[in-house]
Amino acid sequence: MRLRKRNVLYVVVFSAFVGVVFFWPRQPTSATSSGRKYPPPRPHRYEPPPPNLIIPPKPAHGSVPLGWRPFRAPDSYVLKPFVVQPTLGERLPCVDQWVALGKPCEFRERGKVDAVWTWVNGSEPVLDATRNQLVAAEMSTKTTRFGAGPRFRGARTTHFREHGEMVNSMRSVWKSMPASLVRKYILLTADVPADDTEELRLGSVPIWLNTSQENDQIQLLHHSDVFRTLESSLPSTDVENRGRAWRDRFVPSFNSLAIESQLANIEDLAPTVFYLNDDCFLLKPLSAADFETPLYGPVFRIQFDLGVKSRPPGVISMAVDKEGEWPGLEFTNWLLDQRFGKRKRRYLHHVAKTLPTPILKEAAAVWEEEVAKTAESRFRGQGSQVNLVFLATWYTIEKHRESLLYSFIMLRVDADANGVISPAERPTLTDGLESGKVPVTLREGGSAHWVELNLQRLGLDAPKQTGYDWLSSDGYPLIRTVKPKPKDTFIQHCTLDIEECLPSSLSSSLEVFRRVAFEKPDCGDCLIVHLIGRSGPVGLGAFLPPPKAPRASPPQTPKLAKTWQDATFFSGMGREYAVNIMQRYTYVVGNSPMGFLSLRRGWDTKRLPNATSEVAFFAVNDDLHNELAIDQTNMDMRTWYAQHWGGLRAWWEKN
Ligand SMILES: *[C@@H]1O[C@H](CO)[C@@H](O)[C@H](O)[C@H]1NC(C)=O
Ligand SMILES: *[C@@H]1O[C@H](CO)[C@@H](O)[C@H](O)[C@H]1NC(C)=O
Ligand SMILES: *[C@@H]1O[C@H](CO)[C@@H](O)[C@H](O)[C@H]1NC(C)=O
Repeated sequence: MRLRKRNVLYVVVFSAFVGVVFFWPRQPTSATSSGRKYPPPRPHRYEPPPPNLIIPPKPAHGSVPLGWRPFRAPDSYVLKPFVVQPTLGERLPCVDQWVALGKPCEFRERGKVDAVWTWVNGSEPVLDATRNQLVAAEMSTKTTRFGAGPRFRGARTTHFREHGEMVNSMRSVWKSMPASLVRKYILLTADVPADDTEELRLGSVPIWLNTSQENDQIQLLHHSDVFRTLESSLPSTDVENRGRAWRDRFVPSFNSLAIESQLANIEDLAPTVFYLNDDCFLLKPLSAADFETPLYGPVFRIQFDLGVKSRPPGVISMAVDKEGEWPGLEFTNWLLDQRFGKRKRRYLHHVAKTLPTPILKEAAAVWEEEVAKTAESRFRGQGSQVNLVFLATWYTIEKHRESLLYSFIMLRVDADANGVISPAERPTLTDGLESGKVPVTLREGGSAHWVELNLQRLGLDAPKQTGYDWLSSDGYPLIRTVKPKPKDTFIQHCTLDIEECLPSSLSSSLEVFRRVAFEKPDCGDCLIVHLIGRSGPVGLGAFLPPPKAPRASPPQTPKLAKTWQDATFFSGMGREYAVNIMQRYTYVVGNSPMGFLSLRRGWDTKRLPNATSEVAFFAVNDDLHNELAIDQTNMDMRTWYAQHWGGLRAWWEKN
């Protein structure tokens, strides 16, 4: 740790020195060595991209080139406002019964999932040339002063080479996911201007896709369809031109984080998104419960032994590969820290991911500036980029935890909803807790015990390849437990220090809530365990206010906020609100047979059969440095594809 700090200091001092020596204002010696070639991050005047960055328009009016199709991009460049969640209405009794008592109830339609892929054809010459121009522009601003320029991920072709991943990734989903579960297959690909009027653009189409088959079930979208910026970042006059300038600069994108950051802008998404890169595959038959269920929510796959640190904007990342995914993850974790308290959250397994659509949109709306900024990052590792998938996943987990503590302290304990925990109300707060340090035992067996039975009661299939390791009704998954006796292997405890966590000197319900939720997170985690225990063998009843709890009028709407200090938490929101948010943010931490293979050397493909014989979720990453091994790798990949999906031709493929 000390070593790290010293390193940081050296880097800071060195950078300052370099900055003074090399960036002292002076006349640019020539057009190529000045920084002007690279456009500023946000256009403030209408200014088309510098000529050397213009993507060569393709002739759309004559014959459309193979691999492209003409389309009209939407006229809008700005984000739509976030729509607040609806109330439960007539579904209340049913949801209440499930949340409070753990008795299953049919309160919403069977899940529907949209499978979404992002894909850039790295072997497409137009895109390749564009990317090379961007890389060259990027390097030239740095190379002239530092000698050899920094290596950008985008500079290597590895991430963009095409081996036939996309067609097989889609086939794997078609083969493994229940047909009744998938509502749409959505492909998000690059697009370029077709002429210089911006009237028409050309969207990239995988060569095997039969676009005349395109109907409700398959949807081809392009970057221009989803890339959106903030209205406030475009001047109020001439928005259209400025929006166009913005789009011309940042579409097409070659940065997977930038493309993913716009996922929430896809219109009319199903309630659940199953998000895949083209290198993700499913290898075994699965059921809906491997992805999500109406009762338990989305299934997240989290790698608990891999912690993600926090990195504030502007601080140099200690990650080994600065162009890899870690700087983005660390910055995103820092954003979550500001909103929910400091934590080392955990990495998400490198496989396809399930996301609840309303929460994806909510998280993107909370950090809309950061997300819009991410869309403007051409390559990974530049500036502070949001990893939206990581953000939305942990946002769900954190909001569920927050909802439990908020409901208990501000809605249940403060029974008269006046914002003060009176001496008469305090016994509810400390019910079942003596003074001093109280050991609290986790609810026996977890609720996972009931999963199959509960799903069966609603006529839903059990998961086929997923163990439900942790439910949101088990508490916060990163809780720090202690073993009171070293030999005690099964029973886990946490310790609640009453004087530290719930001091009687604090009487404002908001202050008590903020203390346990954000200032002293261990307090909140353990209090949750205690209250789960008080709720009986199932359900979360001990967190909820009584049905007739007083309601403030007019009803308040909490605002979205980036810090917990700015977030609004109102008293007197009543039981329906509490039940609604608890179910809204419900989730499962699932465990499935998973595999990930990074192809670095030629012989790595030989490990494919072994690496994939037992797994249900798989991803393969092309990180090949040796160009000579490409042909062999391609052949091995094709053999492997043929073994799994050789006999398969999906209805969206050409004959
Ligand atoms: C990618 O582009 C190349 C060059 O145009 C083309 O040969 C190849 O078929 C494309 N791949 C797909 C899957 O469309
Ligand atoms: C695959 O597994 C088998 C049995 O475990 C082993 O004998 C073989 O060497 C493995 N092959 C590779 C390429 O690792
Ligand atoms: C695409 O699908 C249509 C409608 O099913 C079919 O008539 C046509 O032959 C297909 N085209 C190719 C190239 O497979």
